[in-house]
Amino acid sequence: MTTTLAGIAFPNPVFTASGCAAAGRELDQFFDVAQIGGVVTKSIMLAARSGRATPRMAETPSGMLNSIGLQGPGIEEFLRKDLAWLEQRGARAVVSIAGGSVEDYTSLAQKLRGHPAVSMIEVNISCPNVEDRGHVFACDPRASSGVVQAVRQNTAKGTPVFAKLSPDVTDITTIARACVDAGADGLSVINTLLGMVIDTTTMRPALAGVTGGLSGPAIRPVAVRCVWQVHQALPDVPILGMGGIRTGLDALEFVLAGASAVSVGTTVFGDPTAPVRVLAELEQALASRGIDKLSDAVGLAHRPPEPFVPERPDPVGDEPVPSYEDAFEEQS
Ligand SMILES: Cc1cc2nc3c(=O)[nH]c(=O)nc-3n(C[C@H](O)[C@H](O)[C@H](O)COP(=O)(O)O)c2cc1C
Repeated sequence: MTTTLAGIAFPNPVFTASGCAAAGRELDQFFDVAQIGGVVTKSIMLAARSGRATPRMAETPSGMLNSIGLQGPGIEEFLRKDLAWLEQRGARAVVSIAGGSVEDYTSLAQKLRGHPAVSMIEVNISCPNVEDRGHVFACDPRASSGVVQAVRQNTAKGTPVFAKLSPDVTDITTIARACVDAGADGLSVINTLLGMVIDTTTMRPALAGVTGGLSGPAIRPVAVRCVWQVHQALPDVPILGMGGIRTGLDALEFVLAGASAVSVGTTVFGDPTAPVRVLAELEQALASRGIDKLSDAVGLAHRPPEPFVPERPDPVGDEPVPSYEDAFEEQS
């Protein structure tokens, strides 16, 4: 179950998703966070933020909408408390960073540079660029590229930098390529989709922030499609895949599409043990398919299907087909 992301070996491919498990401390009440591939921390900004006004979460069919607004303690407090705690627990920390300008991202990368507890950096580029009328970095190849280049240049050589892509673009491979050309060592695919819910009782938007990010099983087919397209365009670039993973079979879909590892996000709100359960289920799913190594399954769905040879000929004609009544009786 080991996996390698841009030269860094992880014991297994299941991670938390940014923003869904803070810095891992709450989940550690349910399982040892050092057991999973890594803890992807909530995107951290330079200064402390209280986030958007409430309500900032709404339930949706098979998912949820959130507009948390990057609530967090700021980088200094994060280093002192959260990163120190992850290090002491022996967990692998993937630190997610967010900013409103290239300078913000640069300063964040400099503060994290060479920190022994940082296994990887994930750059959340789904943030409004304050210097460009609030246009989201991730929706523009040049803006994405500027951020990634700044982070890469200010990060120690041995620390991989992953850019986290937004699905809210016409062609995700254009942004993926721009990030890789700017120095990204890998890609996290995908962030939430922009959505909106209107409360039909109040007849107003359900979220104070009006729009929010849609996550959970509802977005899984979109996420799998994005991972597929990015892997097809850039087969050598490692992908951390996410979006609605609830079971080991869901995780397997991402691996088959081209992800070398996966993040489990929204599911942990309902089942805090989900990361370890998904890991066990994924291991079982690979074994029952006769796949010895996780790496053998990465991108496997892109290969042409092998001819199906049944172990014994189908019983066409010579075995009676059970009637519905017989089958029902057998079951009950
Ligand atoms: C409440 C909440 C907060 C999130 N906060 C962040 C964040 O701070 N940074 C980030 O890159 N993604 C954030 N995300 C997106 C998730 O990391 C993930 O990409 C997305 O939710 C899809 O995965 P999921 O369906 O398993 O949740 C957040 C998602 C949720 C539900």
